[in-house]
Amino acid sequence: MGVGFGKVILFNEHFVVYGLPAIASAIGTKTTALVERHPGSGVELNDKRPETKGYKIGKASQQKESLDLMLKFMKIDTKNNAYRVTLAGDLLAASGVGASAASCAAIARAFSEELDLGFSDDNVNEVAYEGEKGYHGTPSGIDNTAATYGGLIWYKREGSSHHMERMTLRSPVEIVMGNTGLVADTKAVVGAVKERKEKEPEKYARVFNDAGKLAFEARKQLEGFHLEEVGYYMNENHALLQQIGVSCPELDLLVDLALNNGALGAKLTGTGKGGYMVALTPGKDLQERVAKAMEKKGFQALRTTIGV
Ligand code: MEV
Repeated sequence: MGVGFGKVILFNEHFVVYGLPAIASAIGTKTTALVERHPGSGVELNDKRPETKGYKIGKASQQKESLDLMLKFMKIDTKNNAYRVTLAGDLLAASGVGASAASCAAIARAFSEELDLGFSDDNVNEVAYEGEKGYHGTPSGIDNTAATYGGLIWYKREGSSHHMERMTLRSPVEIVMGNTGLVADTKAVVGAVKERKEKEPEKYARVFNDAGKLAFEARKQLEGFHLEEVGYYMNENHALLQQIGVSCPELDLLVDLALNNGALGAKLTGTGKGGYMVALTPGKDLQERVAKAMEKKGFQALRTTIGV
């Protein structure tokens, strides 16, 4: 059985595609993959993950493309062998929690196990990056890296390579992830940012410059365990993400709801335009208050932690 971690991007999604640093953390939920061999040829995908309604149908063709890319990269012969890949686990298949990346890392690990390929974590990450291309087009690699290694990471794309540093938190911190219930298409949203960036170079240069500086400040505050300040930078990061056009009314509503109920900071996470937002809610009581407020309005709320 292979495993991939769900993740939350705490700072700088989208900006990370252009080489700015970003921070992500694994969350407590995972996707698992099991590969079984059968006589015949081809690959059958059996997707048993829980989902946000419409996610699996919406992603079906990208999922197929992703699987084909990974099989090719791993040089797995599907002409003379048949495989069934079963995806399961407690990570919701939804936008914003790294569902695609977690499934890619899990699939890479499951093939390695079934076929004795002896993949290291770095190998798994390379395969998962390849698989992410099916969903993202030009992934920064942050999602597959978080899905593969877990923990809290500082991540920077560097050309065809990347730089990753593990970060540590003094102790895990409670968060709430609010689900808009909307499925987002990462390829389309990333592509739209690129178009707007080309049309409005001066505005985007300013916003990107602020995002670059913010990541270093946020890292300092996270490592110093200054949670009020971390929350402040999450709010600032959300404002920058709004300026590049990746938020939406449902995400803004959940962010406001979280802040009005005492969250130290809140922002969209991942692709945006739907999917999840994240609120910093240290302590079980605050976490429960914020999650309940979201549920009262009819949204799903995931209570989890960062820095485990
Ligand atoms: C998606 O989870 C994160 C984005 O920054 C895309 C990427 O990094 O490849 C929007």
